[in-house]
Amino acid sequence: MAEKKKLTTAEILAMARNQDKGGGEAGAGGSGAVEQSSDAAAASAPPETQKPVAAPKSTADILAAARAQGGGAKPSATKPAAGAAPKSTADILAAARAQGKGSGGDAAPAAKSVEAKPTPAKKAGVPEGDRPPLKDMVAAVKAASEGKPVVAPKVPVAKSKPKLPAKQEKVSRRSVMAMLSAVAITPFAAGWAVMGGLAGLWSLLVARFMMPNMVLELPSQFKVGPPSDFPPGTVSEKFKASRGIWIVHSDQYSGNDMIYALLSICTHLGCTPNWLEGEQKFKCPCHGSGFYITGINFEGPAPRPLERVGLRRAEDGMLEVDKSLKFQEELGQWSDPKSFYPVA
Ligand code: FES
Repeated sequence: MAEKKKLTTAEILAMARNQDKGGGEAGAGGSGAVEQSSDAAAASAPPETQKPVAAPKSTADILAAARAQGGGAKPSATKPAAGAAPKSTADILAAARAQGKGSGGDAAPAAKSVEAKPTPAKKAGVPEGDRPPLKDMVAAVKAASEGKPVVAPKVPVAKSKPKLPAKQEKVSRRSVMAMLSAVAITPFAAGWAVMGGLAGLWSLLVARFMMPNMVLELPSQFKVGPPSDFPPGTVSEKFKASRGIWIVHSDQYSGNDMIYALLSICTHLGCTPNWLEGEQKFKCPCHGSGFYITGINFEGPAPRPLERVGLRRAEDGMLEVDKSLKFQEELGQWSDPKSFYPVA
């Protein structure tokens, strides 16, 4: 078997031109050493097992395809796509590219070229786990193969431990500092707190001691209105709840028409009797003591009559009560002019 001769570029070009001229007869019996070697190569490799020529992507691929063509490929496989005779290097390259398109073997060389070229990530020395996305890497490789400036794809930054919000971090730091401070000054703080509390308590006691003891009481003298507000034979309970007195207009005591004020306090044990208009008497609900309209006791355990308080007519014509003055009937004090207002 004759050894395959390595073709030069000039021989390849000449072979391509001859092929075009001969219309595919080159493989059938052309003249010259080149053709003989081609025939020998064709005879050694049957047409069915001829490897398809990969799509040429570079000058080296094109030249390799041309060599393969000149080395015994079938005329039909090396025929230019356009059908025109290649006259120049450009035509030869175009024919080789057309051949590569029809062979269906584009993917493998392309993949090989992509794999062979180092990615920008590898060039940059990025660790295996921190490489940029595949899409960016492919785009960078394409740009590099096309001669465009390569922009290094961004490497995704590894996610670190999420930080706490600034406010929360601040608060936690404060709380820690407060705890440390509290631990550090606890003895001093406790001492000063006790001293401050004692001083405040002492101040309050002194202030209370300096203030006089006061009992809020209503004034003993107060006006109840003009005499005309109290018709004869009536008992007014207008001031019973607020002042504890009845204003009575009656002439049953000693036959004199007068207005006087009776204390609404039972002389038995101090309960508050009620005026019974229908029975014309005061009745104590506690033990049943009864008093006439004059205040004289007549039933029950009450030992003595109700007491009168001072009553006079003021300069403005109003009746004025003076609870600081008390008059007891059993002591003969109801004859005191200060104990009643005589109605003319
Ligand atoms: Fe009035 Fe005893 S308190 S009857």
